[in-house]
Amino acid sequence: RRLILIGPPGSGKGTQSPIIKDEYCLCHLATGDMLRAAVAAKTPLGVKAKEAMDKGELVSDDLVVGIIDEAMKKPSCQKGFILDGFPRTVVQAQKLDEMLGKQGAKIDKVLNFAIDDAILEERITGRWIHPSSGRTYHTKFSPPKVPGVDDVTGEPLIQRKDDTAAVLKSRLEAFHKQTEPVIDYYKNKGVVADLHAEKPPKEVTSEVQKVLSS
Ligand code: AP5
Ligand code: ZN
Repeated sequence: RRLILIGPPGSGKGTQSPIIKDEYCLCHLATGDMLRAAVAAKTPLGVKAKEAMDKGELVSDDLVVGIIDEAMKKPSCQKGFILDGFPRTVVQAQKLDEMLGKQGAKIDKVLNFAIDDAILEERITGRWIHPSSGRTYHTKFSPPKVPGVDDVTGEPLIQRKDDTAAVLKSRLEAFHKQTEPVIDYYKNKGVVADLHAEKPPKEVTSEVQKVLSS
């Protein structure tokens, strides 16, 4: 299967991804995670992406399309994948269609994490991450056993640099202006499933499972 997860910052895309991946054996490609790794490693790509990311703006279409084009060549991604955080502009969606078209493939489902903006600040500012595994915690909604420490490895957790109330505002603006049109792009193709992303994580998981088994 070829799936896209789309939704505003903090809507739960990264939280649901590992569950979907384990259950449906897909490759998980998260452009945000890949860009953060490039920034941390100070690669040429990371250097170019950093400024936009720190401000909560989108990185250029060419850069992210390049990353996805490269990543989708992995053998584990040939039969199916979950795209988390891509495409985020209509241009990116068109490029993706072109890439898939060459292989005679297409997107099967777009999971739309629909949620009210008002809920997102609390989710974003309470988020803690274990960088090497991608495990995500929340101080209130899913706290680690020991504050600031990963349950599995005992390693320290970090907060994302863009997870402040001020940067969230720009990220939301980018979502409404540039990414919402992508949802319409796929609605016209009849592949969008709307989720109630404001519900607790387990209930969102059940909704995802229902959509994917139908
Ligand atoms: P990216 O990393 O994609 O960030 P984002 O879209 O802002 O999404 P988040 O990762 O913040 O949210 P999420 O939905 O994954 O939330 P999570 O599940 O962790 O992008 C970062 C930046 O990279 C962009 O701003 C841009 O600069 C650049 N970029 C990336 N892709 C790009 C592209 N294609 N084009 C151009 N630029 C690009 O959940 C959040 C918190 O809430 C967690 O603490 C979690 O525990 C908690 N939580 C989750 N679900 C629930 C629930 N149901 N109930 C209660 N709490 C919950
Ligand atoms: Zn995420």
